[in-house]
Amino acid sequence: MVIFKKVVDIQAFLSKKRAENVAIGYVPTMGALHDGHISLVQKSKADGLLSVCSIFLNPTQFDDKSDLVKYPVSTESDIELLLSAGCDVLLLPPVDEVYPGGEANFPVYQFGHLENVLEGASRPGHFGGVGQVVARLLNIVRPDTIYLGRKDYQQCLIIRRLKELIGMPEIDVVICPTLREEDGLAMSSRNRRLSESQRSVAGTIYQCLVSIQAKCGTTGFSIVKKECEDILNSKGFTPEYVALANADSLELLDDYSADVPMVALIAANNGKIRLIDNIMLQ
Ligand code: PAF
Repeated sequence: MVIFKKVVDIQAFLSKKRAENVAIGYVPTMGALHDGHISLVQKSKADGLLSVCSIFLNPTQFDDKSDLVKYPVSTESDIELLLSAGCDVLLLPPVDEVYPGGEANFPVYQFGHLENVLEGASRPGHFGGVGQVVARLLNIVRPDTIYLGRKDYQQCLIIRRLKELIGMPEIDVVICPTLREEDGLAMSSRNRRLSESQRSVAGTIYQCLVSIQAKCGTTGFSIVKKECEDILNSKGFTPEYVALANADSLELLDDYSADVPMVALIAANNGKIRLIDNIMLQ
């Protein structure tokens, strides 16, 4: 695996590869890698692409700066994991390589409803920061395909929209399944911060999502939503949202609908740890 810290160096390397007709598969990350990230690298390799991963803890997407400070950093073990997955290229840039002259030099894109609902409502400015950094990274890496985890469902839709906004519609966005622990907990870098007792109940979120999926067609969503909120509360969570939405637009739905593709999404806090997850309904 070749590791680059400077943008000019990775750009020169990837230009040569492109000239040799090598297709590039890209996995953007903020580090603290887990099997979910690694499955994206493996998917890009299985698709026969040159696999490029980046680790960059992007300050502009943290609406809560204390969350940035607490974000787990494990670069050495991340590199080991990427090596064992057979990743070809790692971009590990310092902040001034990503934002030379300061972040204000880089545009923040608007996503309308998509950036204001659900995660956007809970974390104002978050998707502005995600769009800003991903636009910059896509311009550096210029991949053929970007691999994203479905766990961050809203982020996937934001990045799908972003590629149009930045004039790179040709990039193929591949959304890969969420990897889960045995009890259903979606793999996430934040899971490392769960205490033993928080971890022991963390699978409840997925159990609630499965029940929302199972009760589609038999029970009204408002009843199922209330059941989920009660279960989450009884396990020590503070639910932020238990929502049903159009899976394409993220327009919120009051009830199950046979007419639109649906996704159910949950965000819940346990102590200071905020967990999110989702499930597709059709
Ligand atoms: O999902 C993440 O890790 C980040 O939001 C991303 C896409 C790497 C942008 O910083």
